[in-house]
Amino acid sequence: MDKLLVSGPSKLAGKVSISRAKNAYLPILAAVILSDKPIHLVNIPDLQDIKTMIKLLTMLGVDVSVNGNVTTFNAKNLKSHEATYDLVKTMRASIFVLGPLLARLNKAKVSLPGGCAIGTRPIDIHLENLEKMGARIELEAGYVEAHVDQFKPVHITLSFPSVGATENLMMAAVFTKGETIIENAALEPEIDDLANFLNAMGAKVSGIGTSKLHVHGVDSLKEVTYEAIGDRIEASTYLMAAIATNSEIEITDVNPEHLDFVIDTLKKMGAKIETADKTIKVFKHEKLKGCNIDTAPFPGFPTDAQAQLLALCCVIDAGSIVTENIFENRFMHVPELVRLGADIKLKGNTAFISGGRPLKSAPVMCTDLRASAALIIAALAATGETEIQRIYHLDRGYEKLEQKLIGLGANVRRVKGN
Ligand code: UD1
Repeated sequence: MDKLLVSGPSKLAGKVSISRAKNAYLPILAAVILSDKPIHLVNIPDLQDIKTMIKLLTMLGVDVSVNGNVTTFNAKNLKSHEATYDLVKTMRASIFVLGPLLARLNKAKVSLPGGCAIGTRPIDIHLENLEKMGARIELEAGYVEAHVDQFKPVHITLSFPSVGATENLMMAAVFTKGETIIENAALEPEIDDLANFLNAMGAKVSGIGTSKLHVHGVDSLKEVTYEAIGDRIEASTYLMAAIATNSEIEITDVNPEHLDFVIDTLKKMGAKIETADKTIKVFKHEKLKGCNIDTAPFPGFPTDAQAQLLALCCVIDAGSIVTENIFENRFMHVPELVRLGADIKLKGNTAFISGGRPLKSAPVMCTDLRASAALIIAALAATGETEIQRIYHLDRGYEKLEQKLIGLGANVRRVKGN
């Protein structure tokens, strides 16, 4: 297994270009199944989760070809409606194919994802609403087996604004005659991006950017070229790395409005940040204050940036409180940060960070994607060479991580494992 050696304390400088968002491209890739026309996607990030989704698409019969930074998908000749356990267990987002398969083939067999490191993550909101739309669903030997004769245009209200359920249901409704209304829809920018992509394909989704989405059924879709939004979580990670090391950097190719809450939080803590169109500049700060932050659905503070914030809080000379409200088990970075010298107490879903304790290198282990990002931030700020093991978690979500960090002047080295 590869590991990363990070020498600190680092000073970062220069520019970093943000990749297209993994969490935007995963549902967009699933939406490819809806169309029998070619779909050209630009700058798909080279990440393990994306590779897994493309593998799943090829197993379903989607033709995939690459030409430079454009990947063309053609789902004209789908040959399967099954997403197997082997693939789904490695990536929960495989569940996104459920809605599109039902819309296109009237049937789908998708393995239940099971638990994952950050919690049990059920899919009940996906399933109960697909049923309200007219699907017949059975759970059989670890698989969701779903059939539909014709989806009905219904008005559904989600019990929680689940990102994945909103995306699955929106895709399922694309061909439904009449108007499907999804209320209490998630507001994350990746939802808008999926809706914009579907509309570019010829679908009719309105209410974009609100919690009430309207999907008017269309008969067919057309050829399209599309590029997804920049990755707001990758951008948040570099932003916090720069602040944790009191560095000046410029983060480009991301919409700063997608990070409003994160940027506001960091400014209130004393960080010096300026934003312009697709650019975020971080300047050196005088002294940082602690924070008291709760994660929440968008536009609140993202759970996917909680671990990175917590790492930043460790290097501030003040106390902070961070509460995780989205996932039940998303503090696995805490014991690893403690190994680096942090003083953090956990009580239920709240972390109390004393701050002001100098971080010192130690061998640490990645446990999930964003927990790993927290370790990178802490290692950049810590004194000495930190060995970060199990970085395959990082390869799921951070494109060209070492190249980007080295480009910013960090002393980072990947050691190849077996
Ligand atoms: C997506 C993101 C993930 C992010 C999360 C919250 C992708 C590929 N992943 O995950 O990075 O952390 O949004 O911003 O885009 N829930 C249920 N029943 C359901 C669905 C969800 O109880 O049917 C619960 C989950 O267990 C969790 C909460 O709702 O506690 C949020 O989940 P959801 O918004 O669905 O997240 P994902 O789409 O899985």
